[in-house]
Amino acid sequence: MSRERKLLELKERQDKAKLGGGEKAIEKQHQRGKLTARERVTLLLDENSFEEIDMFRTHTSTNFGMEDKKVFGDGIITGYGTIHGRAVFVYSFDFTVFGGSLSQVVAEKVVKVQEMAAKIGAPIIGINDSGGARIQEGVDALSGYTSIFLRNVLYSGVVPQISAVVGPAAGGAVYSPALTDFIFMVRNSSFMFLTGPKIVKTVTHEDVTADELGGADMHATKSGITHFTYDDEHSLFEGIRELVKYLPQNNMEEPLLQPNDDPVDRIDEELNYIVPENANKAYDMKDVVLKILDNGQFMEVQKAYAPNIVIGFGTLNGRTVGVVANQPKHLAGVLDSNSSVKAARFIRFCDAFNIPLITFEDVPGFMPGTMQEFNGIIRHGAKMLYAYAEATVPKLTVITRKAYGGAFCVMNSKQLRGDFTFAWPSAEVAVMGPEGASEIIFSKEIQTADDPQAKLDEKIKEYRDKFANPYVAAGRGIIDEVIEPKFTRYKLIKALELLKTKRDDNPPKKHGNIPL
Ligand code: HXC
Repeated sequence: MSRERKLLELKERQDKAKLGGGEKAIEKQHQRGKLTARERVTLLLDENSFEEIDMFRTHTSTNFGMEDKKVFGDGIITGYGTIHGRAVFVYSFDFTVFGGSLSQVVAEKVVKVQEMAAKIGAPIIGINDSGGARIQEGVDALSGYTSIFLRNVLYSGVVPQISAVVGPAAGGAVYSPALTDFIFMVRNSSFMFLTGPKIVKTVTHEDVTADELGGADMHATKSGITHFTYDDEHSLFEGIRELVKYLPQNNMEEPLLQPNDDPVDRIDEELNYIVPENANKAYDMKDVVLKILDNGQFMEVQKAYAPNIVIGFGTLNGRTVGVVANQPKHLAGVLDSNSSVKAARFIRFCDAFNIPLITFEDVPGFMPGTMQEFNGIIRHGAKMLYAYAEATVPKLTVITRKAYGGAFCVMNSKQLRGDFTFAWPSAEVAVMGPEGASEIIFSKEIQTADDPQAKLDEKIKEYRDKFANPYVAAGRGIIDEVIEPKFTRYKLIKALELLKTKRDDNPPKKHGNIPL
């Protein structure tokens, strides 16, 4: 064969591979309102940065006449490229080929990029749109899934792992995304469930649509499985690019310093007036967070799930920080099972990837009641406690108002190795709120009083005057500094600068036993 012919053959093969399941299947994919695997990779990565690996691999199955149905790439595109100039690995399931189902070869392609990402120390992003295990391959597909799961686990905390679910993810296809750090879903075309509506109907007799059972909004609000939800795939891939900006390449690096034009000593007078004088009135903690971070930029994670706690990424003088903030606007910022688990997982991610934690605290305590106790709030609250305690990254706290009881201990207190705790003059740090405390310790006096309500009010005032302030705690060194709210940004940035060289360790062990 002549050199020219050989070059032509390569080009022909490449063109064929790029068509995946063929033009008709691509048209059908578009009709379903979905992009193709290649269009997705193009949107995700920097322009012209994608380099494909294993383009010509084909499956090896001979069951059900499969030997005559081979497609270059076998239903997945794998390779590497850059996001904001930094290397990332990517795999993108191609629904136009056997419904993006997972064959042994598909699994081997995924494992290859997983291993390269870990060896090189670069994030890996999986784009999922798949009918699950390739039915014609039986147990080979199952083994394939399992080998992917193993790498998800081994490289957890080594390189950031991100999943886009932009089509069906049923059965085994859900567990790889579930093991990764962040899941992105899109409304109307993403579905994640272990068993689909038909099996649900047979087993539990429930009538439920695919969207109700595993759509993006369900996972964003009820299960908390998805971290980011978008209306269309274009915004979803923009979202992943934004997230990657905040992350380091791997656990041995720090996130890249972002250019910052927001003055370090910017004062925001409004912060002095943001906490209402009436301690029972709500305010939006996100307003506080936005006023303090660089240019008011905050990428909120799990926005619609357990909104009584707010988590997300921002920068302070260009350095990535992970924010954990009680939200007085929802359930008065109380800690319950869901908010505890939400925060615990985020704290552990930040700690694994050298991202300092900033905690904004206004918490009346843990949620009482049978619902929470039956649900295991003790175990779930302990997860958050565990996460803060084991974290060795710089840890700063700003107490804006309430810091009561167990919730005070849990929310990055000094005794959990919090580095600096700042309190605003509106802070109330005590074992419990004035109402509950007065009813317990002054119960006899109240019961025997001529006017019990007046006595209770008097005792509440007495307790509030004594404890509902930051100065008792500041007098014990539990708070490092009481600050004027308008200086919070400057104080946090200064502390972060100082803590750049912080070194802290945990005792040697195989691994801890977080109360799962
Ligand atoms: C082989 C599959 C397939 C699969 C879909 N296809 N899923 N081929 N193995 N798992 C093929 C279809 O035959 C079809 O081929 C093409 O992909 C497109 O599928 P459609 O059904 O036409 O598409 P759509 O209507 O959009 O429905 C998508 C779907 C549905 C919801 C994903 O295909 C479906 O329910 N698939 C099966 C899902 C499932 O039960 N998977 C196995 C899970 S068990 P043609 O040639 O007609 O275009 C599992 C165990 C792993 O994953 C456990 C590990 C822990």
